[in-house]
Amino acid sequence: MANSVFITGVGSGLGLALAKGFISQGFNVYALSRHLPKELENKINFVECDLQALETVYISVEKLLKDVKTLKYVVLNAGILGDIKEIHNTKMYEIQKVMDINVWANKIILDALMDLNIKIDQIIGISSGAAVNGNKGWGAYSISKASLNMLLKLYSREIDAHIISLAPGLIKTPMLNYILENIDDNKFPSVKRLREAPKMTPEEASEKLIAVFPKLKQFESGSFIDIRKINI
Ligand SMILES: NC(=O)c1ccc[n+]([C@@H]2O[C@H](COP(=O)([O-])OP(=O)(O)OC[C@H]3O[C@@H](n4cnc5c(N)ncnc54)[C@H](OP(=O)(O)O)[C@@H]3O)[C@@H](O)[C@H]2O)c1
Repeated sequence: MANSVFITGVGSGLGLALAKGFISQGFNVYALSRHLPKELENKINFVECDLQALETVYISVEKLLKDVKTLKYVVLNAGILGDIKEIHNTKMYEIQKVMDINVWANKIILDALMDLNIKIDQIIGISSGAAVNGNKGWGAYSISKASLNMLLKLYSREIDAHIISLAPGLIKTPMLNYILENIDDNKFPSVKRLREAPKMTPEEASEKLIAVFPKLKQFESGSFIDIRKINI
């Protein structure tokens, strides 16, 4: 029987490329997202879900996965950046929105997966170097990815699956393009480094990640791994 993968956020960027990559490898793909891109129509099992509406997340996971018994991979990919600006100028409601999508929606998803008793081999949370860098302007996003790392470490003590928070490297997606095109690097110097750093296309990143996922099992479950800092 074909392996199955559950991915959050397939509307654009990395999640879309991962969905296409897994389809081409013969996986059954299950996804939650706000948008179903044309190129995935009739190729995946899809439930529309806005992860910011936390009260709808559990029921959406149940609807999508009610007949699924095993998942080779769960890829918690959906995420938002929020505005790049000083933490002092960032309002609580802005931080809350980033936290709801990047962290708390994932808690609800993991709870639903446990309650559904789905046998899962690996869970990969798409994290970021921002989880540890703490660069000026990355406030809500950095806090959310640091929190995601800890959330997944905590679940690694309770779920019978191997869990890794993975920083995927720089990928030319709408999220990164927004930063490169709109943020003043005099005000936020880390953006200058991003402009100069090598970047992958979403397809290159997807190919690399799909090859790396099985190898993540060599690391302790619950770890945060930056793909740029390991040799596998
Ligand atoms: N690009 C990079 O260089 C980079 C680096 C490190 C980490 N990351 C991480 O990689 C992941 C994917 O980001 P990306 O770069 O591919 O950016 P992106 O193109 O902006 O993709 C964001 C994804 O999240 C989904 N999403 C956003 N808000 C959502 C919501 N309210 N409900 C459901 N889904 C939602 C989107 O799908 P819908 O529009 O269909 O909802 C989309 O598929 C994120 O977790 C990001 O933090 C990216």
